[in-house]
Amino acid sequence: MDQRMMEIFLDVQGDLPRQGPGDDASTLRALSLCDGLPEAPRVLDIGCGPGAQTIALANALPDAAITAVDTHAPYLDRLKARADDDADRITTQVADMTALPLAPASFDLLWCEGAAYIMGIDAALRAWRPLLKPGGCLALTELVWLTEAPPTDAAAFFAEEYPAMRGAEAVAALFEDAGYAPRGHFTLPDSAWWDQYYTPLAARLPEMERKYAGDEMAQAIIEMTRKEIAVREKFVASYGYEFYVARKSSSQAV
Ligand SMILES: C[S@@+](CC[C@H](N)C(=O)[O-])C[C@H]1O[C@@H](n2cnc3c(N)ncnc32)[C@H](O)[C@@H]1O
Repeated sequence: MDQRMMEIFLDVQGDLPRQGPGDDASTLRALSLCDGLPEAPRVLDIGCGPGAQTIALANALPDAAITAVDTHAPYLDRLKARADDDADRITTQVADMTALPLAPASFDLLWCEGAAYIMGIDAALRAWRPLLKPGGCLALTELVWLTEAPPTDAAAFFAEEYPAMRGAEAVAALFEDAGYAPRGHFTLPDSAWWDQYYTPLAARLPEMERKYAGDEMAQAIIEMTRKEIAVREKFVASYGYEFYVARKSSSQAV
C-alpha cells in the first residue's frame, strides 16, 4: 500500500476501539487455554493496534509486564492513553513483526490478534517461536474458512483480499510442524466482528464519502470497505476468525 493510500485507509478506520474482529471474552477464553503461566508473566502483544486486547490482558494478568509492538506509532499512543493505571506495566515499541528486536527466550506469552496474516501465519509461527521461553504459550487469531466448499462469491472476494486463506483445521495443523503443542482453538462469535469493528466502521462511511468527494482513490477504499462488510453479512457461516492457542514444545529444534 503506498503512503497516500495508507493515510486514507487509516482515516477511514478512524479511532475505532479495535482494528479488526475481536472481543474481551474471546481474549480471556484464549488466555484460559494458556495454563501454567508464571505469577508475573512477560507478555508480547504483536501488531497490537490501539490495544483493546492489550488492556484485556493487563486486566486479567495484574502482575504481567506487557510489551506491545506495532509499526503505527499513533496506535501505540492510543494504547498508552487508554491504559490508565496499567500504563507503567505496558511498554510500547514501534517494531516490525518480521524483525522483532527482542531477546530470544524472553517471553512467557506471545499474543497476536488479527495481525499474523501480515507476514503470513507460517512465517510468523517460525519467526516468533525463539522469543518464547521453554513451555511458553502463543495465542493468535487467523481468518479461516469454516466450510469445505466456500460459496463462489465469497471465494472470489478472498481470492483477491486474502489468497492465503485456509480452512480452520488446515491452520490448526501448522502448529505442530512449527514446533508447538496445540492447546485448542475456537471461532470468534459473529458479534466480535460487529460490536467494536464493523458497526462503528460502517457508521463512519457516509461522512468519509462526503469528506473525500471526487477523490477516486479514497472512494475506492470506502467502496472496498462497504464490500467487505457486505460480504460478511452475506457469508457469515462460511468464514470466521479462529483463535489458536499453542505451547512451545521442547522436542522440536526449529
Ligand atoms: C488488523 S490490525 C489489528 C490490531 C489489533 N490487534 C486489533 O485486533 O485491534 C493489524 C495491526 O498490525 C499492524 N501492523 C501492520 N504491519 C505491521 C508490521 N510489519 N509489524 C507490526 N505491526 C504491523 C497495523 O498497524 C495494525 O495495528
